[in-house]
Amino acid sequence: MAMPSQPDPRPQEETVKFDIVDGVAWVYFNRPDKRNCMSPKLNRQMLKVLEELEFRDDVQVLVLTGEGSAWSAGMDLLEYFRLAEEEGLHAIRSNQREAYSWWERLRWYEKPTIGMINGWCFGGAYGPLFACDLAYCSDDAQFGLSEINWAILPGGGASKVAAELMGFRDAMYHAMMGENLTGPEAAAKGMVNESLPADKLKARVQQVADVLKKKDSQALRATKWAVRRVREMTYDNAEDYLIRAQEALNQFGGLAARKEATKQFLDEKTFKPGLGVFDKTKVKAD
Ligand code: COA
Repeated sequence: MAMPSQPDPRPQEETVKFDIVDGVAWVYFNRPDKRNCMSPKLNRQMLKVLEELEFRDDVQVLVLTGEGSAWSAGMDLLEYFRLAEEEGLHAIRSNQREAYSWWERLRWYEKPTIGMINGWCFGGAYGPLFACDLAYCSDDAQFGLSEINWAILPGGGASKVAAELMGFRDAMYHAMMGENLTGPEAAAKGMVNESLPADKLKARVQQVADVLKKKDSQALRATKWAVRRVREMTYDNAEDYLIRAQEALNQFGGLAARKEATKQFLDEKTFKPGLGVFDKTKVKAD
């Protein structure tokens, strides 16, 4: 007879790991033997790690990936659901707060974020998937709203993510049928930017990170926040928000950066904005 699953004895600190290499923080869901499903311990640790990395000068881009064969198999059915339900409503609510708060932190992260989906991505994992600004997956990754297969609805934002990232019919089919999408199918439906052969995935993510590192970091932050904000605004509100956001950007270095970039294009003719990025190392403070 199979052994029933037991709570994971791994200390909280080990549920997430990260390496910082040349300006890129590679953050890993680190419960590979549990397919990186999100337990309360992992959620708690992830928020700590994200907080620690957000304002470090040696981190310019954050990549979220998974150790082993999974990106994340969603919420931990034992530790996040069953044990909390046995404990009572306060435990359920507290688990939700811990999970949702790191996803929110990631949605509004100061630095650009890339999801590198190396394998399984289910249910609750759609929260962090949507939270990442960009996403690249391996061709053999699998994406699924498996909730319907075990008699719940796709909560924790997962229904919203499907409806946001896919067309209506696709989202409905995906949620109702409980069938998985392969990497290329997920890319075709807009869940990720690109799907690549597993052995090319990291190099592509590195390439994207290297491009992002060269952009003006304040302009990049303002840009990614703007794209997220305007999705929920009317056209007129978006137009106005973007004026205010640019004016705010001018106040913290934006004006100097723009003047320098304009000089490099119009006067020095050392770059063309349509073909690449200006040299930000030449910006002088206002
Ligand atoms: N919650 C709790 N435990 C999970 C889990 C989850 N979401 N996903 C995997 N695990 C555990 C398994 O129970 C197993 O534990 P054990 O070693 O104590 O038996 C271990 O991780 C390995 O999983 P296993 O199912 O043997 O791996 P697999 O590679 O054959 O299959 C999946 C991988 C992801 C297809 C399968 O584990 C699965 O369907 N997981 C649930 C996915 C899901 O519905 N998530 C939605 C939650 S909102």
